[in-house]
Amino acid sequence: MRAGRREEPLGGQARGAESGGCQAWGEEPRGGQGRREGSHGGQARCGEADGEETWGEEPPDTPYPLVLRGIIARHPGQAAPALDGFGLELRPGHRVAVVGPSGAGKTTLAQVLLRFLDLEGGTYTLAGRNAAALDGDAVRRLVGLCAQDAHVFDSSLRENLRLARTGASDGELRAALAEARLLDWVDGLPDGLDTLVGEQGARLSGGQRQRLALARALLADFPVLVLDEPAEHLDLPTADALTADLLSATRGRTTVLITHRLAGLDAVDEVIVLDGGRAVQRGTYRELAAADGPFRRMLEREAAEGGILVGAGQSADG
Ligand SMILES: Nc1ncnc2c1ncn2[C@@H]1O[C@H](COP(=O)(O)OP(=O)(O)O)[C@@H](O)[C@H]1O
Ligand SMILES: [Mg+2]
Repeated sequence: MRAGRREEPLGGQARGAESGGCQAWGEEPRGGQGRREGSHGGQARCGEADGEETWGEEPPDTPYPLVLRGIIARHPGQAAPALDGFGLELRPGHRVAVVGPSGAGKTTLAQVLLRFLDLEGGTYTLAGRNAAALDGDAVRRLVGLCAQDAHVFDSSLRENLRLARTGASDGELRAALAEARLLDWVDGLPDGLDTLVGEQGARLSGGQRQRLALARALLADFPVLVLDEPAEHLDLPTADALTADLLSATRGRTTVLITHRLAGLDAVDEVIVLDGGRAVQRGTYRELAAADGPFRRMLEREAAEGGILVGAGQSADG
């Protein structure tokens, strides 16, 4: 069996990813994982040149364990790989935070997980199946993304949420809004769920926009949720409040949280420090905070910026 079509990197994806918003395609991430051949107009077809037609292999029902081993990934035209020997294993409910300086390869990891970027080396498997042999859209029903600039459409709150789950009831929308700590605000609006958000969500604050994106991601209920710097463009108190709430909302959900802020990360199961495309440190927050290493230096820097309490093994959230 040959792999399916090559995927474009995030920026070049034709739909959904244009502004790096929550990937809301695939209306039934958890259900409906049956065979979908033919549903993409033959996009997954390959191997015709040698007279043999193949399709993306049957996707697994669940992605667990999701395993990356020795991943090497390079962006077109780049001399150095953006990921160089990276590994990761995700089991149900496991939450991982990936931290590291700008250019470390964090977004590249998200692109690899969503199969927007092909591998140069290493393996990526979902429930033991080679992700490269699966249709990219099938992978993206198992692994969903919520990115730093959530795309909000010039429509109502209800329609923006329903992108993630067609036909969702108001009760389901309200539950997701409550998890994203947005429900009280929505309930205080004269038009409630019918409120128009404006072009690019202009009538929302940055924090509200990201919470709407989070609510959408929760509604989509991806088996694995990747969040790429969801708090990046927010001021620090807003960013840390959002992170605290999303960590509470994703409890029990398999999550990869990419972030440059460390506040609140004691809630996750594993923290990976990425630098130069390699995991230079990994362990629990407590282990990393207690060790002399890059994570400790990041904590100290954050504390100096007026951020969080720092100390060996000390909890960071309040
Ligand atoms: N589309 C791209 N084309 C070329 N190089 C890229 C592209 N995206 C990222 N890179 C390079 O890959 C490396 C990792 O980038 P990225 O994964 O975006 O890091 P991070 O998200 O940690 O800031 C950097 O050296 C960056 O310049
Ligand atoms: Mg990035």
